[in-house]
Amino acid sequence: MDAGDTRIGRVAGVCRGTVAATVTATAIAPLLAIVLAVAGASAAGAPTVATAAPDAIERPLVEGATDPLRGRAIALGRDGNCLLCHGLADAGRPTGNLAPPLDGVAGRLSAGQIRLRVVNPALANPHTIMPAYFVADGLRQVAAPWRGKPILDAQQIEDLVAWLQTLR
Ligand code: HEC
Repeated sequence: MDAGDTRIGRVAGVCRGTVAATVTATAIAPLLAIVLAVAGASAAGAPTVATAAPDAIERPLVEGATDPLRGRAIALGRDGNCLLCHGLADAGRPTGNLAPPLDGVAGRLSAGQIRLRVVNPALANPHTIMPAYFVADGLRQVAAPWRGKPILDAQQIEDLVAWLQTLR
């Protein structure tokens, strides 16, 4: 290999690093905002409710329209693969039973609580077996092509949340 090849290799490496860092920053920004908000609230001494960890991400990850039908397609298809573990009465095919059925989830959880559980369920249950769909760092057993990338993008997360909110 000559000096030219090495340079190209290095540039490619740096570019990849930058993209991964950007994705990571986007992914954690909403979570960071919540952590800061909780920290700020307790510093001011106002609310006495002890919040060990945030239980909801109230703010949508993207502004604008969401599409519950696209959300359903993500959940049933290979992007989300949610029915590997979750039941769904009208799935029209066999579903998993490692997790509570998604039916009725909107009656049990708010939109913000649902969003947090899809973004990073470990925030609600540190021992969960459910994958974090919008976290890029700190994941285990990630195959090489997906390292440093969230499983779903922000729009897909919001489409999923929109669909899950229809499951009363
Ligand atoms: C590997 C198994 C697995 C996969 C895949 C999975 N989940 Fe989960 N999920 C769980 C388990 C287990 C729970 C129960 C709470 C816990 O242990 O974290 C859960 C809990 C949830 C909850 C809270 C349900 C409630 O009633 O409290 C929601 C919402 C949810 N999952 C949505 C999804 C969506 C949407 C997908 C696909 C994008 C998905 N899950 C994929 C295992 C999984």
